[in-house]
Amino acid sequence: MRAIEYSQTGDPDVLRLVDREVPEPGPGEVRVRVHRSGVNPTDWKTRRGNRPGDTVDPPQVPDQDGSGVVDAVGQGVEESLTGLRVWVWEAAHQRPSGGTAQEYAVVPASHVVMLPDVASFDLGASLGVPFLTAHRCLSVTEDGPTRLGPGTLQGRVVLVAGGAGAVGNAAIQLARWSDATVITTVSSPEKAHLSARAGADHVIDYTRHDVVAEVRALAPAGVNTIVEVSAVTNAAIDADVLARHGSVAVYAGSGGDSMQLPVRPSMVPNARWQFVLVYNAPEVWRARALEDVAAAVLDGAVRVGAEAGLPMHHYPLEQAAEAHAAVEGGAVGKVLIDVRP
Ligand SMILES: NC(=O)c1ccc[n+]([C@@H]2O[C@H](COP(=O)([O-])OP(=O)(O)OC[C@H]3O[C@@H](n4cnc5c(N)ncnc54)[C@H](OP(=O)(O)O)[C@@H]3O)[C@@H](O)[C@H]2O)c1
Repeated sequence: MRAIEYSQTGDPDVLRLVDREVPEPGPGEVRVRVHRSGVNPTDWKTRRGNRPGDTVDPPQVPDQDGSGVVDAVGQGVEESLTGLRVWVWEAAHQRPSGGTAQEYAVVPASHVVMLPDVASFDLGASLGVPFLTAHRCLSVTEDGPTRLGPGTLQGRVVLVAGGAGAVGNAAIQLARWSDATVITTVSSPEKAHLSARAGADHVIDYTRHDVVAEVRALAPAGVNTIVEVSAVTNAAIDADVLARHGSVAVYAGSGGDSMQLPVRPSMVPNARWQFVLVYNAPEVWRARALEDVAAAVLDGAVRVGAEAGLPMHHYPLEQAAEAHAAVEGGAVGKVLIDVRP
């Protein structure tokens, strides 16, 4: 079978198209005939490692997210899963041969979720990292819900920093599905347009407008939950617009590695600053998040494509390096590898 792998860290050109044996699923595992492999920043960051040239042994097949059809199951796994359309999450994490940038990927059965016929393989491969991260960020507020779904965020205001990003887009879609009022920040009219298409109620261009004044005008009592992509640049803004008992979920360090945390402005509302790394989040949360995201897909509340604020960029398997370079270069929307046309 055709597969992408890398045996040393570095630039996208470390990615190699190779021929591999079709793997057999072991106990508790399934084999997925992969249609789409979704590329996220975490995939190129892992490929880059801490420095170029470090040996990766055994060689790593990249990419956490994907979609396809279960074509074989291992011992102890329901035979009825065979033939099921699925989306795959965290395929490559601590599994060198598990990544989705290959024709067949073997993962634990718990890492596949049924993909309904109404949902495309493109949508399926766009779910894992972005939608699970968004779910985590939206479900950590002290006086807020731990589950998402219609009505769960009724009467609550969510601020999403970077609404045209993949995680930002997911947060807007899940928050809207949950009946929140969604405010988002972007850096351009094009991104404002995309965020509105994703479902944001209010879009603020942070390069042109006073975000605190705009948010306070829209939500005088403050915002309940902030989904933060750049706490380094936005911490003071976040503290100034947070409602009582509100939370700031920090899932990325865009803009730097350390931040200034405003103490007094955080004490007054009893703010919660929650740091998020989806790989290490609690299992009890993950089970809930997988169910909620699957329910949102079934509800038709999750969409992909420019009309949903998430333009798709497709690359054939042999251009996996170009796909990784596109994400690293800040491509707006979702980058997918078409493992099968
Ligand atoms: N912790 C986790 O578990 C986890 C999970 C998923 C992703 N991440 C990390 O999160 C980051 C984003 O991932 P992604 O897939 O969403 O990437 P993406 O699609 O490239 O989106 C990033 C977005 O952030 C926006 N942004 C950057 N600085 C901003 C600021 N100061 N205020 C508002 N928006 C800002 C960017 O737009 P502008 O620059 O135009 O504003 C862009 O739209 C990556 O670093 C990724 O590694 C972490």
